Amino acid sequence: MTFTRRTLLGAAMLAAACAGSALPAFAAKPLTIGFSQVGAESEWRTANTASIKAAAKQSGINLKFADAQQQQQNQVKAIRSFIAQRVDVIAFSPVVETGWETVLREAKNAKIPVILTDRAVKVSDPSLYVSFIGSDFVEEGRRAGRWLQDYAKKNPNKQLNIVELQGTTGAAPANDRKKGFAEVIAGNPKMKIIRSQTADFTRTKGKEVMEAFLKSEGKNINVLYAHNDDMAIGAIQAIEEAGLKPGKDIVIVSIDGVRGAFEAMMQGKLNATVECNPLLGPTLMQTAQAVAAGKPVAQRITVTEGVFPAEVAAKEFPNRKY
Ligand code: AHR
Repeated sequence: MTFTRRTLLGAAMLAAACAGSALPAFAAKPLTIGFSQVGAESEWRTANTASIKAAAKQSGINLKFADAQQQQQNQVKAIRSFIAQRVDVIAFSPVVETGWETVLREAKNAKIPVILTDRAVKVSDPSLYVSFIGSDFVEEGRRAGRWLQDYAKKNPNKQLNIVELQGTTGAAPANDRKKGFAEVIAGNPKMKIIRSQTADFTRTKGKEVMEAFLKSEGKNINVLYAHNDDMAIGAIQAIEEAGLKPGKDIVIVSIDGVRGAFEAMMQGKLNATVECNPLLGPTLMQTAQAVAAGKPVAQRITVTEGVFPAEVAAKEFPNRKY
């Protein structure tokens, strides 16, 4: 017979009740979560990791943390190692959306529940994970598109030639933010995406790809939509080095709402950021504890977020937690 954490706890409680004593020492064994993180590609990710580590500590949870350095094969390896170590719960933020069926089935066969945080997966069997905690990325893309629609309304004679910096190819936030934005601007002849390329959610690549865009399109570009703030910040550097004014010659909207974006907005170099909340640690720990205790949890837990235009940046900056 295989003993799960629950059956061990049950046996311990029963034994304690029979003996009329306090719970034996092993009943107080802390919950162990194996967490596979995407990497350390952005300011958002750093805040997300800090939130998860702090929440685990605060909840007395034993956290086994693995950094996948943006590689799916590293995440698969980490998940297999968590299964071999027989952790109580596996949690991960998937680098990309597809290719998870096999390893998730291995976790299910080993009776280890899996919680997704931040990014979703595409699987044919939704019972391969118990819950997904994270933002609505399609809606974030729509919010960026709506902000630009408002800008377009205020500048009715301007043709908007947009360049798009996409997130990591195949990642849920890259796919969804592209989709949401495209949906909103579709049918507006004044708004056109003239170039779109991945910059992997990093500042370095954001700068590199923007340099290439500027080289091929030059002053034709007057809008940048970046799938995260870090790529926008990298691109701002490229725009300045090209002798142009970010936030004026090229209007910029990006996603995340990190402090770096607020600083750029206060300097007049970024026009708006759409919030994506990385502080998922406390919800993850509560959900893991509920799952381990056999309590029902919601399959989808979303986060409330806003949009911050440059006009409110200075006022909001002191309230930012990441
Ligand atoms: O999955 C969330 C995204 O990943 C954030 O927008 C980005 O900054 C991060 O790298």
